[in-house]
Amino acid sequence: MNILIGGAWPYANGSLHIGHIAALLPGDILARYFRLKGENVCYVSGSDCHGTPIQIRAKEEGTKPEKIAERHHKEFKENFNKLGFSYDIYHTTQDQYHKDFVQGFFTKLWKSGYVYRKLTNQTYCESCCQFLPDRFVTGLCPNCGKCARGDQCDACGSLIEPEKLKDIKCDLCGRTPVFKQTGHLYMALSKFQHFLTDYISGAQNWRENAVNLSQRYISEGLKDRALTRDLEWGIDVPLSGFEEKKIYVWIEAVLGYLSASKKWLAESGGNWDDFWSENAVHYYVHGKDNIPFHTIILPALLQAASGLHLPDRIIASEHVTLEGKKISTSNHWGVWIPYLLEHYHADSIRYFFIINGPEKRDMDFSWREFINSHNGELLGAFGNFVNRTFVFIQKYFDGKVPEAQNNPKVKDTLTALYPKVGRVIEQGRFKDALEAIFTFIRSANKYFDEEQPWITVKENTDKCKETLHTCVQIIANLSILLEPFLPFSSAKLRSMLRIEETFWNYVEIPGGLLLEKVEMLFDRIDKEMIREEEERLQR
Ligand code: MF3
Ligand code: ZN
Repeated sequence: MNILIGGAWPYANGSLHIGHIAALLPGDILARYFRLKGENVCYVSGSDCHGTPIQIRAKEEGTKPEKIAERHHKEFKENFNKLGFSYDIYHTTQDQYHKDFVQGFFTKLWKSGYVYRKLTNQTYCESCCQFLPDRFVTGLCPNCGKCARGDQCDACGSLIEPEKLKDIKCDLCGRTPVFKQTGHLYMALSKFQHFLTDYISGAQNWRENAVNLSQRYISEGLKDRALTRDLEWGIDVPLSGFEEKKIYVWIEAVLGYLSASKKWLAESGGNWDDFWSENAVHYYVHGKDNIPFHTIILPALLQAASGLHLPDRIIASEHVTLEGKKISTSNHWGVWIPYLLEHYHADSIRYFFIINGPEKRDMDFSWREFINSHNGELLGAFGNFVNRTFVFIQKYFDGKVPEAQNNPKVKDTLTALYPKVGRVIEQGRFKDALEAIFTFIRSANKYFDEEQPWITVKENTDKCKETLHTCVQIIANLSILLEPFLPFSSAKLRSMLRIEETFWNYVEIPGGLLLEKVEMLFDRIDKEMIREEEERLQR
């Protein structure tokens, strides 16, 4: 089967933070798991480089938007790498290949008959010399009279149009903008009402938030959407009369899944058409704010212009809070990935955000929980099991796996874990999947305790050999079962056990094998760090 996994494309205008990682990690788990199953996998993402915020940031810093985007793209790529994200391609919307693809697609869309021109009145700031995107217009809410933005009022929650705001101001310079007529291309989303109703009611294995939100859009009635923007920074509209305009950033960003997969498959000798045909399953992985772009806009675009494969599984995450409070870049309330990676093990980060993943409700990151989970579970349960087994083998068996039979009960449990964990992964329940493995690890520690090899080594060598032989088989299988979740530790274990080929199947290590360069998987984090990190956060 051809499995396409699309991870959301982060905006290239600020460092990645814990919210991004919690939302995106499921994509890497899926990609690694399906590769182990022997499926054809194409895991794509990239940096979302266009749009207003980047243009504004460039103005503020007195530089060019491409510089801002490039700098962040480089940082993202490096961060994802260190976190073990196994993208087949991590692309960028600044790449010419993407731009050409998007313009070609746009032309087809225009010819499809679902796109029309329309004149509208839009806020224009004469001192900033630009049309203002809705959220850069502030004013008083016509509903509650409180301060609101042109797209919605945070105080009363109502959606508002900028024309209805009183006492409007440009959010960039504070002056009063005017209304100016401008022409845009619109996508007739309303014509997809039936199509999308059917599509969404057939959704299988979507996260509940995605089903609910998409159904709400449908039941409120789909509204036509502008495909173009008055902006300097973005991809040119390939139609005459639109020379001053750019393609709306969300439209081209979602097309990045198509362009990036096409580029990678062309380079790697794969078949793009297969991946976008009936013979494929597509997973899309993102935060909940991205839902309608993947469940409404992308399917409509695909249907209108191409007839290509529609999204099958939507893995949308809830939010991450930090020490109980909302993450906010402007208030400097966040934990940024470059910092985390500099100070903590990538697998500790992955473990924490998977086992506590915001799958059904928001999750909270606190330094106390993070450090305790590393010390208690990763090191305390998993690291400890590996360590006590290998240390014992080095001490009593010269570092060689004892020749013996594997305990049949343990073997059965391990064999059964593969389909059990696989099933929940495929359903998008990563927390349950990892929890099932760790429940087993705790039982493995109990097995070690109950077998008492430190006693049998003197009184019943055969029994002792069987115990340790079995523990090695447990570790070997953990190195595969945990590969989608904790790839760095898994790879380390496989190299200690000299496992070269991996499949999502029970494996067995031959007795007599000499362990290779045994080392500890994790170091204990000093509890003092909790306080230090908490203090650092408050500064
Ligand atoms: N840049 C968007 C965000 O950070 C996500 C874009 S996802 C894509 O919220 F599919 F459109 F690329
Ligand atoms: Zn202004």
